[in-house]
Amino acid sequence: MKIAILPGDGIGSEIVAEAIKVLETLNRHFSLGAEWAFGDIGGAGYDVAGDPYPLITRDLAKQSDAVLLGAVGGPKWERLDKPLRPEAGLLGIRADLGLFANYRPAKVHAQLVNASTLKPEVIEGVDLLVVRELVSGIYFGQPRGIEVRNDQRYGFNTMLYAESEVERIARKAFMAARLRSNRVCSVDKANVLDCSELWREVVCRVHADEFSDVELSHMYVDNAAMQLIRNPKQFDVIVTSNLFGDILSDEASMLTGSIGMLPSASIGERWAMYEPIHGSAPDIAGQGKANPLATILSVAMMLQFSLDRIDLANKVEQAVEQAINDGVRTADLATAGAVSCGQMGDAVCSRLKALA
Ligand code: IPM
Ligand code: MG
Repeated sequence: MKIAILPGDGIGSEIVAEAIKVLETLNRHFSLGAEWAFGDIGGAGYDVAGDPYPLITRDLAKQSDAVLLGAVGGPKWERLDKPLRPEAGLLGIRADLGLFANYRPAKVHAQLVNASTLKPEVIEGVDLLVVRELVSGIYFGQPRGIEVRNDQRYGFNTMLYAESEVERIARKAFMAARLRSNRVCSVDKANVLDCSELWREVVCRVHADEFSDVELSHMYVDNAAMQLIRNPKQFDVIVTSNLFGDILSDEASMLTGSIGMLPSASIGERWAMYEPIHGSAPDIAGQGKANPLATILSVAMMLQFSLDRIDLANKVEQAVEQAINDGVRTADLATAGAVSCGQMGDAVCSRLKALA
């Protein structure tokens, strides 16, 4: 099996290096048999090829069984034209590979309940999954732009969903729920937006036709943002559009104590990509301070969804759990005595090896 590794920018190369240590450990001690090749994306792609999603990276991604991505973006590229910016590379690969279903689990580790800014009793036992639509909605809708009308500039975007796009993401959410606690909450803004009105109607239809065994509820996005903080344990699977999912998944990450803990899987009909949900953190890049666990847990998701090795996915998760239980903490989680990014990777690998 072949993995395309795209470290990207900022802390990307540091966190990806720790994920590679995990892959090496799996190869050596669990006969995984993974191979990988590196490609550039984001600012790194722009620097080498003048394109945040270079052709050579496209080819590499499409010839691989899975893509592992670090993070993109940084002040160095902020003033480029929008299509050349790092974020355009990330949106480009998502769209090009058709990765419409983005799975963002937020699980609170028992040992980290005190790392969250919320009260322990509110977050203890939280285990939810945000299923975010990733290749449509307001991120991609046309028309969009900045235009002068009546002597004033107007900025505009279009929130647009085809029925078929809502259907396919709803199906993924219902299927995910069947493997969990069998509950889906669809989040929209159907009291205001036409786009959301259609979204809700289609989710209801898919539910009635194919998934009536799953419990379905609906929530407006403003209320969902509030409920996530008030009582996050009420949620199992949250299914929502691109923009709402972007916002709610960052919010959900803080339940777990650090955005540095959350992995994600982005899956289409043919290809799949795995990445931490956090950004490139230019402020701490190159200092060994980053938390590699989100990337390592993204490797676990890759093992489960693309490499058909749920047994090894469980081992990686177990090794992460043990490192946390043993008190190993990077700076984002530590109150004192933080380890470096590399030491965290080593801590996970030594525990993983012991599970062989
Ligand atoms: C994410 C990020 C991206 C997004 C940015 C970097 C374009 O915030 O993956 O959540 O908005 O989707
Ligand atoms: Mg985001």
